[in-house]
Amino acid sequence: MSRVEIPPGLKELLQGYTVEVLRLRPADLVEFAVQHFTRIQEGRGKEHNAKKGSLKTSRREVSFKTHSDKSVRDEEDSVVNHIAMLQYICVATVCAEAYDPDEDDEDDTDPRVVHPKSDVQRHRLQDACRDILLFKTLDQEQLSEVLDAMFEVLVKPQEHIIDQGADGDNFYVIERGVFDIHVQKDGANVCVGKYDSKGSFGELALMYNTPRAATIIASQDGALWGLDRATFHRLIVKNNAKKRRMYEAFIECVPLLTSLELSERMRIVDVLGARVFQDEECIITQGERADCFYIVESGEVKIMIKSKLDNLEMELARCSRGQYFGELALVTNQLRAASVYAVGVTKCLVIDIQAFERLLGPCKEIMKRNFSQYKDQLVALFGSSVDFKHEKIEV
Ligand code: CMP
Repeated sequence: MSRVEIPPGLKELLQGYTVEVLRLRPADLVEFAVQHFTRIQEGRGKEHNAKKGSLKTSRREVSFKTHSDKSVRDEEDSVVNHIAMLQYICVATVCAEAYDPDEDDEDDTDPRVVHPKSDVQRHRLQDACRDILLFKTLDQEQLSEVLDAMFEVLVKPQEHIIDQGADGDNFYVIERGVFDIHVQKDGANVCVGKYDSKGSFGELALMYNTPRAATIIASQDGALWGLDRATFHRLIVKNNAKKRRMYEAFIECVPLLTSLELSERMRIVDVLGARVFQDEECIITQGERADCFYIVESGEVKIMIKSKLDNLEMELARCSRGQYFGELALVTNQLRAASVYAVGVTKCLVIDIQAFERLLGPCKEIMKRNFSQYKDQLVALFGSSVDFKHEKIEV
């Protein structure tokens, strides 16, 4: 039998489609496939369009080769079909575990992983995990199981914690250190961001059973806490199914997100955390570095800005259910331009900066449209003393 090579990218393509089918369970698989692959094609953007000519050529070459001998072609087709089908079934089985965890009771009988820790280590771990969004919707029992299972990882400068394309083993929470995020784009290695002394990474490969989507490299000595794939699956992925049921309807009605595909909105639900703020609690402080984006689920927040002249805070605007805040500094890459306080008990959905960059790119233009509204509000309050230079707002 002639040797059959699986084209690069086929596995990921089928895997992506399967994951979306299992997540969203569309009624019409063919129609869904058309939408899914059209979106991927469109998402390749202008850059890709420029390269279309060469892609077409290589496609023609492939079809020319495979058409040169009908019997070989038939045999290859059947082997490829067979392999694709096997891959589909394997992926579907693995993904079904991931995406229908409530029906997967086997997981519950897995032995509980416990890595013993000293009191000091436990305290350090608790501190590092305090603001981890993926842990925010766990109950107390689940959280303590997660903490028990976590293990300390000390890293050296230039150490690769994760390599893009590798299989996912652990999820990591940062205790200290700076970690660069590199992504291969069109054959070039691009540093797309960094984690600085807080946050977490490595959830995507474990959530979606996909290869690692980025390379993470320590740029100095650091300390991480790892969580093994099985425990992550049993506790976090299982919890995500519950989260999706809880937030699906709400996320559908957030005006900002209506331009996204359903699958993109569900990816947002998978990574968001929920936080409850008490009356008058400060959610964002003017002048601080920005690391999160917020959507109000219930209650209300007020946006207050302090002028340098008199140091008095003035109310700029309010946001209630379905509205968002905290986007300005993320989009303009500036410090927080205003403070935000809860008005009464308020619940917000929170998305970290890395997920914001990854998932909300298509909504940035809509967000930018609001910036002129901010300027109008500021001019109304402070008149001509407002400075808008370089997308930076100062009063
Ligand atoms: P995972 O794919 O499991 O491993 C690499 C991790 O890098 C990924 O999960 C995310 O947690 C993190 N990451 C941060 N920024 C990005 C990005 N722009 N694209 C992909 N992954 C990213």
